[in-house]
Formats: sequence, C-alpha cells, structure tokens
Amino acid sequence: MGAKPTVLVADADLAKDIQIKDFHNFTDRANLKLKGGPFTEPLFDQTFLILRGKQWKKVRSVSTPTFSASKLKTMTPIIDDAFNNFIDIIDNRSKTGVEFDIYDIRFYGLCFERNAQILSANARECREDYKLNDTIVIPKGSSVVVDVHYLHHSPDYWSEPEVFDPMRFSADRKHEIYPNSWQPFGSGPRNCIGMRFALLVVKLSLAKLLLNYRLISGAKTETANLSLTTTIFTQSPRNGIFLKVTKL
Ligand code: HEM
Repeated sequence: MGAKPTVLVADADLAKDIQIKDFHNFTDRANLKLKGGPFTEPLFDQTFLILRGKQWKKVRSVSTPTFSASKLKTMTPIIDDAFNNFIDIIDNRSKTGVEFDIYDIRFYGLCFERNAQILSANARECREDYKLNDTIVIPKGSSVVVDVHYLHHSPDYWSEPEVFDPMRFSADRKHEIYPNSWQPFGSGPRNCIGMRFALLVVKLSLAKLLLNYRLISGAKTETANLSLTTTIFTQSPRNGIFLKVTKL
C-alpha cells in the first residue's frame, strides 16, 4: 500500500495459513493510512479495527460477549423497531408505484455503507519474515491482503462463479464449499466481531420485507454485468439498484 510492499493473497490455503495457522505473525492490521485518505485522524489508531498487539487482544476479549446469543436476543426488539422506520418508507414508495434506488434510502444506505467500508479491511502486517517456500519470503513489515473478491469469484473454488445460486449455501451443499474460500466477514481470530449481529439484522429485515412486499427489479437496474464502483475497501453497484415495490 503506497510505497509499502503488499502481498495479495488469492489462494484459500495460503489465506488460511495467514489468518488462522500462523495468525501470531499476522495479528495486527496493516497501516491503512494512505496519504490524503480517510484514516489519518489520530483517533483512528484507537479504533477496534486498528488496535494492535496486547491492546487489541484485551478489547477483543472484553467485547466478544456483547455478541453472544443471549445478548443478540435482547437486541432483537431494538433492531425490529429501527426497521419499522424503514418499512414506513417502503410502504410510501409502494403507494407511488415509482421505481427507486434502494441506496437512496437511509437505513439500507447505512447497512450497505457499513458493508462497503469494511469488506476488504482484512489487510494484515507481517510481524517477522514469513517463508512461503524455499524461494519466496514475505518480508517483515509488508502488508498482506486477502483478495476476497478473487476468492469469491474464482473458478478454482466455485462452479459457475458468476451464477447467482444461493443453494450453494444450503445444508445439503455447504460441504462443497472449499475451506476459507468464502469469507465475507474475514477469517480467524481477527474476523468480524459483528458478524452474528450483522446477519441477524439482515435476516430480520429481509424476512419482514419479503413477507409484506413484493420487490420487482426496476427497468434501470443492470441485470447482466452489473458495473461496480470501488471505494477504498470494496465495491458497490455503480448505477444503483432500482426497485419497484408492491404490498402483498
Ligand atoms: C454485512 C456487514 C459486515 C461485513 C460484511 C463485515 C466485514 C468485516 C470484515 C471483512 C472485517 C475484517 C476481518 C478480517 O480481518 O479477517 C471486519 C472487521 C470488523 N468488523 Fe465487521 N462487517 C460487517 C458488519 C459489522 C458490524 C455490524 C459490526 C459491529 C457491530 C462490525 C464490527 C467489526 C469490527 C470491530 C471489526 C474489527 C475486528 C478486529 O479487528 O478484531 N462489523 N468486518
């Protein structure tokens, strides 16, 4: 990153070594402070994402119980309440019959933004020289980034990677997924601590939405070769996702 040597990992086994087996050598995030970038505020160093070494370990272990099943259960009514505001907006849109960009709605915008900000934030710093094989060594201090987009789209790991096939993740077929090739929330001890919370929000909100409304892809939505735009960490649809909504 910048002038710093960066290794891009596009192999699920190597990613596993870095994120899990040899985690002790890749515990800290790589420096994300690109010149002129958004992370140059001094307080940024004190955020969970950036904390290093023992300080990170302490905060991680104190924070982990926040996302236990029982704590998530107590959060459910609050999530549900917040989502009702979103449903009110959807309801008004359904009455107009006009198609709209889902990214324009603040609630969803925030969720997607959260996703967008962090999706590829898995950059790690190599603590000591790391031998990949007899000839290649990742030098101490380098950044190591797992190329999640590549792993998720690689024909090495997925049959027909560009086909939308949610059944790949069904109980019957889950075992076909190559270990560590699917990691939207990262992997290993420094994975996303909010994963269960994020999934709960998505599941609750989608259930409520789909039980009450029919979503129809709008004419302006690109259905093939969706063009993407890249932020510092990740990608999102360049031209929005347009929908029409009708009440069931
Ligand atoms: C769909 C939503 C989300 C996605 C896709 C996502 C993804 C990620 C990814 C890829 C990482 C880096 C993991 C790694 O280095 O292996 C991460 C870290 C993190 N995420 Fe999330 N995240 C989401 C939602 C959330 C939410 C809702 C919270 C908090 C409530 C959260 C809190 C964090 C924190 C604190 C870290 C840093 C953890 C650490 O360094 O120990 N995330 N997330």
